[in-house]
Amino acid sequence: MKRHLAFQTYFIWSAIVLGLFGGFGLGAHMAYLLAFGLTPGKAFAAMVQVHGHLQLLGWTGLFIIGVSLFKLPRLMSSRPLHENVVWAIFGSLIAGLVSKSSAQILIFYTQSESTLRGFVMYGSLLESTGILIYFGILLKDSVAFRAQSNAYAAAGIKPFLLVSLVGWFLYALINGAVGIDFGRSSTEILPPAWNNIAIETYIHGVLLPTCFAFSISTFPIFLRLRAPTWPVSRVATLYGMGVFIYIAGLSAELCWTSVLGSWLRTVGVLLRTAAMFWFLIELDLFRLHLPWFRKFRDNQDREHRPPRRFAGDYGQFGNFEWLIYAAYAWLFLGAISELAALFFDFSISVSVIRHFYLLGFVSHLILGMAVRIVPGFLGRNQIAYPILVRLSFVFILLATIGRTLPVALSSLDNKALKIGYGFSGVIAMLAIAALGVNLAITIRRNKKSFG
Ligand code: HEM
Repeated sequence: MKRHLAFQTYFIWSAIVLGLFGGFGLGAHMAYLLAFGLTPGKAFAAMVQVHGHLQLLGWTGLFIIGVSLFKLPRLMSSRPLHENVVWAIFGSLIAGLVSKSSAQILIFYTQSESTLRGFVMYGSLLESTGILIYFGILLKDSVAFRAQSNAYAAAGIKPFLLVSLVGWFLYALINGAVGIDFGRSSTEILPPAWNNIAIETYIHGVLLPTCFAFSISTFPIFLRLRAPTWPVSRVATLYGMGVFIYIAGLSAELCWTSVLGSWLRTVGVLLRTAAMFWFLIELDLFRLHLPWFRKFRDNQDREHRPPRRFAGDYGQFGNFEWLIYAAYAWLFLGAISELAALFFDFSISVSVIRHFYLLGFVSHLILGMAVRIVPGFLGRNQIAYPILVRLSFVFILLATIGRTLPVALSSLDNKALKIGYGFSGVIAMLAIAALGVNLAITIRRNKKSFG
């Protein structure tokens, strides 16, 4: 019988390299310029778009796709993937990301405008092709998947996964259309309003539901939380409705009527934040319910050698749970800020809320989950340096505070806050570098050299 493919580490390495030297590097450069009042170069507006895109599809997207292509076929007992298909997804995404991002900036510094416009357009189309192949595989597998009645973790992943699949599909279409528009026009940057819709679709339609799906299926084991015996489908349906009404609102505001558009957008925000609060309560991070194993056993299990108090391991993956708890605190803050901006005269920039979600929630979660799951995918039962996990926690936390707080409080014109903002990108790069080094050493070490 054909076996499932081994874990393809090139997804993780490219996510780290593109994140570190692309997305985070550009973010560090821009934040430094803005914080210290230096004059930005002529490509600055394009740089903002490239930073956002590399962070979204490069740093978070490659990580998610790499992990899903390994985990989901096993979890859903579907047919093993062919290596060529995985390569096709990876190759289109990397070729698309590199050609689109570099051409978008180079266009400001060379004479070959029409060629570079072509690179941006075909780059976007390549990215969308990679996404659509990935979408097709997961759609087929997840529609066919029927979890056994007591396989809660496997069943719990499906509802939010389906929401994320719709998100991926929409994102692929909008991303391709935005690229074609740029290729045919003479504007200096991608059409800002449609680019914004692409970003919102990706954040709320792809990233957050994927993070929720993986949290539901892994936290009962990793953090010893309750099993997903709660109505996951209802929460996911409410969330999905909120996201797609929200996106419809943004699109209607742009091409139809601003009154109906803003009304739909408000309803969308209300529904999806309500779903997020519901999800947070059900996930039970405050441990108000019995952990999953107490459903099946009367006593604490592993009495002779109990694991750590709030995790299912013995500390061999470092304090990855700090990153996970902090991630969910940022998610809460993001949702509260969105609501506050809706109801009160509370002006907080869209950029700050976005970074609560992206640098706060998603990047913390990736840093925490990567050290917990990747060693196991590769047959290692521990991470090389638990201390690096703690360091990455400190760095990413400081970076998120530095990236968001000074901008939210910019009216104070405080020097210390400006310095924090100016260096937030560099500090975030240290967090990603700590992850990269830790994973590289973990993978290089012979399985036996771990005690
Ligand atoms: C400390 C790390 C980071 C720094 C210093 C940083 C900095 C910036 C800056 C200066 C901008 C442009 C101005 C603005 O919108 O306020 C920006 C925009 C953006 N950032 Fe970040 N960022 C960081 C992390 C991230 C991460 C992790 C993500 C996604 C996973 C992300 C996604 C975005 C997006 C989507 C935009 C908007 C792009 C657009 O308008 O086309 N950023 N960031």
